[in-house]
Amino acid sequence: MKIMVINGPNLNMLGKRNKAIYGDRTLSEIDNLLKKEGESLGVEILSFQSNSEGTLIDFIQKHSTEANGIIINPGALTHYGFSLRDALVDSGLPVIELHLSNIYAREEWRAKSVIAPIAKGQISGLGWRGYVAALRTLVGELKKET
Ligand code: DQA
Repeated sequence: MKIMVINGPNLNMLGKRNKAIYGDRTLSEIDNLLKKEGESLGVEILSFQSNSEGTLIDFIQKHSTEANGIIINPGALTHYGFSLRDALVDSGLPVIELHLSNIYAREEWRAKSVIAPIAKGQISGLGWRGYVAALRTLVGELKKET
């Protein structure tokens, strides 16, 4: 089983970027945690980050036939990334949307997600632990289905 873990714009800056909101773990620390968690669950993690929507879409298109599910933190594309949303739908894979911060407790424009209606579910505000929770939940669901 393979799970794509995708991070959008500015998430390469985790660990430096607004630590009070996003925490102090870097993206590579989070990726390493997920790789370890993946090993204990018996799944392979395909991690990817890009600051551009088209590159994220290329990655999803390239890997959708080999992967079983997607965990995505779309960054600000959450709020307006319609092409990204279409690519997620076209992948035909179950998607969990993930946010480090609670997008409902911040600026009003962040409370709208164009990804949420096509996602299986959303985790928002649980920091880096949200990624681990998303992985355990998605793999648990997929194992039940097969
Ligand atoms: C974010 C929330 C978004 O509103 C923001 O643009 C991000 C990160 C989060 O993880 O909390 O870049 O997705």
